[in-house]
Amino acid sequence: MISKKVEETINKQINAELWSAYLYLSMSAYYASIGLSGFANWMRVQWQEEVAHSLKFFDYLIERGGNPILAQIADVPKKWDNPLQAFEEVQKHEQHVTALINNLMDVAIEEKDHATKSMLQWFVDEQVEEEANAQAIVDNLRLVGGKGDGLLLLDRELKLRVFVDPTTSAKP
Ligand code: FEO
Repeated sequence: MISKKVEETINKQINAELWSAYLYLSMSAYYASIGLSGFANWMRVQWQEEVAHSLKFFDYLIERGGNPILAQIADVPKKWDNPLQAFEEVQKHEQHVTALINNLMDVAIEEKDHATKSMLQWFVDEQVEEEANAQAIVDNLRLVGGKGDGLLLLDRELKLRVFVDPTTSAKP
């Protein structure tokens, strides 16, 4: 049986992952609105990834005899100043998610919950990848000055991203 403290913290994380999904879907709409369909595609795939993350926590809670609580999802931003600024926000947001996962790990350690620690290790590794992906695109955007032909080339590249459920494939 899972402790109340771990259960509550996982429930908060389910909400945080779903909020991340909303954020990226909102960014997908933003990029589509400025004609960057490749960036819009990347964000749409990211939305699917975040839903998969939330489901991994959801299923784990049920497996351990806990109850997933689907709380209200707060509003997400709808507008950004430019393509680079939106992606810088992705990078910042993923750093925030890493901090949340680390906090969850701290709670599991305090509660001597070895099963949750083991499950969370997957997310610790996943966050390394999440931050690196965002960093690489921010770096590319800065290199091309966030505009012009370089931006269009990058857009073409991001159009190729397809969703592969990270929770069912080997890590990372
Ligand atoms: Fe679920 Fe992008 O971290």
